[in-house]
Amino acid sequence: MDFHELAAARSSTRSFRPDPVSEESLRRILEAGRLAPSAKNLQPWRFAVVQSPDALLRVRACYSRDWLRTAPTILAVSGRRSDAWVRSSDGYNSLETDLTIAMDHMILAAEEEGVGTCWIAAFDLPCLKTALGLAGEDEIFAITPLGYAAEGYAPVPKTRRPLEASLTWL
Ligand SMILES: Cc1cc2nc3c(=O)[nH]c(=O)nc-3n(C[C@H](O)[C@H](O)[C@H](O)COP(=O)(O)O)c2cc1C
Repeated sequence: MDFHELAAARSSTRSFRPDPVSEESLRRILEAGRLAPSAKNLQPWRFAVVQSPDALLRVRACYSRDWLRTAPTILAVSGRRSDAWVRSSDGYNSLETDLTIAMDHMILAAEEEGVGTCWIAAFDLPCLKTALGLAGEDEIFAITPLGYAAEGYAPVPKTRRPLEASLTWL
């Protein structure tokens, strides 16, 4: 798939087969995160691959929707503000941007592997931090399941505003 086909093909998957994602696929997905750009190349991220039954139970309990229970693996990206770049002119901290780019690289790499994903931000944050064993200083903005779409799973059709509605040429 070229990049444009990949971007068009990716859509959120919310029902999974129980089969685990192969270690080779997982490593290629994680490598895409490792290669992501970050402000001043500070790479303020930590990647957690949740696969053990105990850890999966703990993480799933932090998200209210049942479909996540079908995911064989959950990927979480976390980091600390103190490890990220700060713009001196106004104090802007790049942590959320850096972590989000890394997650997006991995989500697109997963698509290339035939592995389904879904951004999840509507989790219970204190619950998730405890589930992942994160410290108070650690922040987390998104998790995603990683797995193969269930047989017959029909993704929600992709709907987007026309480009012109979001575009200004200056
Ligand atoms: C920042 C962010 C947070 C999201 N949080 C959730 C979520 O908590 N639960 C969920 O089911 N989908 C979540 N989504 C998925 C969006 O609903 C989905 O990407 C959007 O509807 C477009 O559909 P598509 O991903 O299939 O193209 C989130 C997406 C983003 C980018």
